[in-house]
Amino acid sequence: MKTFVVLCSVFLIVNAKNIDLTSSENVFWTFMNKNNTIRGNATVPGGVYSDLQHNGFIGDILSEDNDVRTRWVAYDSWAYTAKFHVSRDDLAARVQHLVFEGLDTTAFITLNQDEPIGTADNMFVRYVYDIKDKLKEGENELKVSFLSPVAAADMRSSKFFAAPTCVPSVYNGECHVNQLRKMQASFSWDWGPAFPSVGIWKPVYIELYNGAIIRSVTTHTNKVGTDWKLDIKVYLETSQKITQVAGVLSASLQVEGKQTIKMWTHVDAMSQADGTHVVEITMNISENKIRLWWPNGYGDQPLYELNVLWTPDEYQHELSHKSLKVGFRTVQLIESDASEIFGNDTAGKGLTFYFKINDHPLFMKGSNWIPSHILPEVGESQRDVVDALLTSAHDAHMGMLRVWGGGVYESDHFYDKCDQLGILIWQDFLFACAMYPTDPAFISTVQEEIEQNVLRLQHHPSIAVWAGNNENEVALRGNWYDTMPSFEKYKADYIKLYVDTIKPIVEDLDPGRRYLVSSPSNGLESEREGYIAMNPYDPHYGDTHYYNYLADNWNMMTYPKTRFASEYGFQSLPSLKTMRTATKKEEDFSLQSEFSKHRQHSPNGYSFIRTQMESRMKLDENDPKYFEKFVFYSQISQAMAIKAETEVYRQDQANWYTMGALYWQLNDVWQAPSWSGIEYGGNWKMLHYFAMSFFSPVLVSPRLLPSDDIDVYLLNDRFVPIIDDKITVDFYNWSSPAPISTKQYSANADPLSSKLQKDIKINFSEYKKEEVFVKFTLQAAGINSPPNYVFPVPLKSAKGLRKPNIQITVSSTVMRRQQELLEYLINIRVDTVVLFLWMETDVKGYFENNGIIVTEPQSVVKFISTKDQVTPQDLQKSIKIQYYVN
Ligand SMILES: *[C@@H]1O[C@H](CO)[C@@H](O)[C@H](O)[C@H]1NC(C)=O
Ligand SMILES: *[C@@H]1O[C@H](CO)[C@@H](O)[C@H](O)[C@H]1NC(C)=O
Ligand SMILES: *[C@@H]1O[C@H](CO)[C@@H](O)[C@H](O)[C@H]1NC(C)=O
Ligand SMILES: *[C@@H]1O[C@H](CO)[C@@H](O)[C@H](O)[C@H]1NC(C)=O
Ligand SMILES: *[C@@H]1O[C@H](CO)[C@@H](O)[C@H](O)[C@H]1NC(C)=O
Ligand SMILES: *[C@@H]1O[C@H](CO)[C@@H](O)[C@H](O)[C@H]1NC(C)=O
Repeated sequence: MKTFVVLCSVFLIVNAKNIDLTSSENVFWTFMNKNNTIRGNATVPGGVYSDLQHNGFIGDILSEDNDVRTRWVAYDSWAYTAKFHVSRDDLAARVQHLVFEGLDTTAFITLNQDEPIGTADNMFVRYVYDIKDKLKEGENELKVSFLSPVAAADMRSSKFFAAPTCVPSVYNGECHVNQLRKMQASFSWDWGPAFPSVGIWKPVYIELYNGAIIRSVTTHTNKVGTDWKLDIKVYLETSQKITQVAGVLSASLQVEGKQTIKMWTHVDAMSQADGTHVVEITMNISENKIRLWWPNGYGDQPLYELNVLWTPDEYQHELSHKSLKVGFRTVQLIESDASEIFGNDTAGKGLTFYFKINDHPLFMKGSNWIPSHILPEVGESQRDVVDALLTSAHDAHMGMLRVWGGGVYESDHFYDKCDQLGILIWQDFLFACAMYPTDPAFISTVQEEIEQNVLRLQHHPSIAVWAGNNENEVALRGNWYDTMPSFEKYKADYIKLYVDTIKPIVEDLDPGRRYLVSSPSNGLESEREGYIAMNPYDPHYGDTHYYNYLADNWNMMTYPKTRFASEYGFQSLPSLKTMRTATKKEEDFSLQSEFSKHRQHSPNGYSFIRTQMESRMKLDENDPKYFEKFVFYSQISQAMAIKAETEVYRQDQANWYTMGALYWQLNDVWQAPSWSGIEYGGNWKMLHYFAMSFFSPVLVSPRLLPSDDIDVYLLNDRFVPIIDDKITVDFYNWSSPAPISTKQYSANADPLSSKLQKDIKINFSEYKKEEVFVKFTLQAAGINSPPNYVFPVPLKSAKGLRKPNIQITVSSTVMRRQQELLEYLINIRVDTVVLFLWMETDVKGYFENNGIIVTEPQSVVKFISTKDQVTPQDLQKSIKIQYYVN
């Protein structure tokens, strides 16, 4: 193979012909159940719950207990039929492939008079069927028949059972989802309802061509000296019958200064038996022609467009083209002997576990992503919802999200957006909280799934690491599903699936990224211990998931020292406003209502939330607003607990001890108590507002010790040090919005560090602990750092906290022209300290801060409105407030 370098040119692109089979004027889809008693027009891509909703057979699936009421849908079988036209010219093409980008899940496909085309059983796989000689001129009929996923799972389970037997009964879920390569959460989860969907959830089309097409492109970036080596691998595909692949492959990359690097190569080769052929082009790019890609908060996210074009020798009009965006960055996961940093004591036990991005160890701040909708076709298509969630994560300074293993490989749009926003992705493979079967058919479809999805996602600079599964190592070691009697069998299955099957595929297609066998795991140490470590939760190794609902979660001493916290969290209830989108019945707004019981999947009901709340706050069950306050206090409790835990992890980043804090969970799929910071529908809970502050790049972070002394850390996630700036420590009486004492200290921190401020010595010896609290602020030019607080006693014991008088007025608006946003100033006047001042409005937009600790008589908060333009007076009238008082 020869390669040539050419300079800039523009090309005109005409792709090989596709017949698009998504719903349109020309392609008409209908659906029906098994006995043809329910039928209607269908939308493809789509799914049966969406179609039944559009046709009026069922109502809003997320309303009341409709998850259970509509369960008959999942027990029936459904067929989708399309009529479309094919011309005589179309039939002349040498290759005629029917392509389904996604079939959910167990399906068989027929064409014209029930001629069988093929079967499908993995919703994460692209199915390509050869239909040459099966298409006819004129009208054709395509039919896709789906088995009930519940029945399909049950059938497989009777042959290939793998624990658990079923989900807990409070989930109102279905059993054996681990038998199907389907979104695992679609049979229910502790935060979500069961909607065992079926449908053609991604595009479907017929490819007609004579030569070959580009199916996938991967890009591998390596820094060699002062150059970047960009290794482009192009996966060509042709019919299995055609083995000669001949043509010109060209690649062009737009770099800085409007320059384009273009290379091409002539290919004349025999394809592999499956009709594929891989061509490699390597570009040398001088480092000054590109800028580095950085995670959110550490720099920009420059992306460079790469165009790859295939021109077959014989059919030169038949071009195949792919365009993607490349980012240049390095990611390393450093697992090295911790004693080299911490010495041979407890801290130095085990291995480090941190990400080095562009050679800098960076603390990963973020959360866990669950599907943006319980119906996969909706999650795939609702770009505005994905954008809003990812933008919310970005605005809260998150630099990493973990795409959790019980969901889906997200849409291309999702990863494109993460590339743009600088949100690194920890990508689980889609196995979660179960043992999995390893029969040959299962292993074979998993191989296809892993290969296709790694090839699709590999080029995204946002993807940082792959993980084989969610919690399956710890589930087996911890005997979660009574697997102990068959431990050796399940361990062998585990190794067969994640180590012998998945690992080599990932490492072959994507040698640049670390593949962790499980999440959480002890990383290298789990591998050394034969993949099922004695204690996969060992905090000295790898990542950990930590949940503790019984300890005092506002107390920072509760939390363990760990290398990387990839899950931790606490439940709260969604706002009444969000709950009202699920029920209109006033009697549902009580903890004892059937609605409240139905939506809470924890076998312990609301008791953990109540225990947490009551250890810190006072709430009388006879209060006429008990439920409303319970909701509000649950959000305070959650926000304060996760704030405390997150700050502990950030404080422990000194010497890269703890290097990640991804709380569980960013988003929600329905209106129910859950661990989320953002409610279904997009409303931010208090937690998400708090995340903007506890993830702030620069933060004064105090830790109240059991001795009542306060350690003060200065967290600095920037590349520049903080030298001799000022930390102000104010003591406040609960009863007065003015400090009773103020002291200033010198503030210092290295770049990318957490630094204990040894000069700051604070205790309560001069005060009565019940009467005071402490506020910490940083004064440093050019740094926006939020205030932080220590409440020395539980709020229910605070003396002097009283019912405030609060005046809210909204004044002039400012236009932020570039983004066409409207900014309102909310003026807050108070006569005493106000805790967790919470503002709500029906006007579309968001508060720049909420759940505020008000310590000054007058303060201002901005409200940024995106769409509705209301007068300041109308906004003022619409604002409802809540706060905490004993
Ligand atoms: C058709 O199937 C549905 C669901 O399986 C069932 O409830 C109904 O009784 C059947 N109707 C007839 C006419 O067979
Ligand atoms: C389905 O679509 C056809 C053609 O647009 C229309 O005539 C028919 O009324 C639709 N049926 C239903 C049940 O909406
Ligand atoms: C890339 O650059 C290196 C040295 O900088 C050189 O050895 C190599 O031949 C170059 N490769 C190509 C394809 O130009
Ligand atoms: C810690 O102990 C091990 C063996 O016990 C030794 O190899 C290592 O060098 C020691 N590390 C330090 C920093 O002393
Ligand atoms: C409390 O702090 C002051 C300094 O602010 C110090 O002089 C005093 O010894 C401390 N008391 C205790 C009990 O630690
Ligand atoms: C703080 O409040 C208490 C009553 O709650 C009062 O006795 C005390 O004098 C106040 N201290 C100051 C410094 O204002």
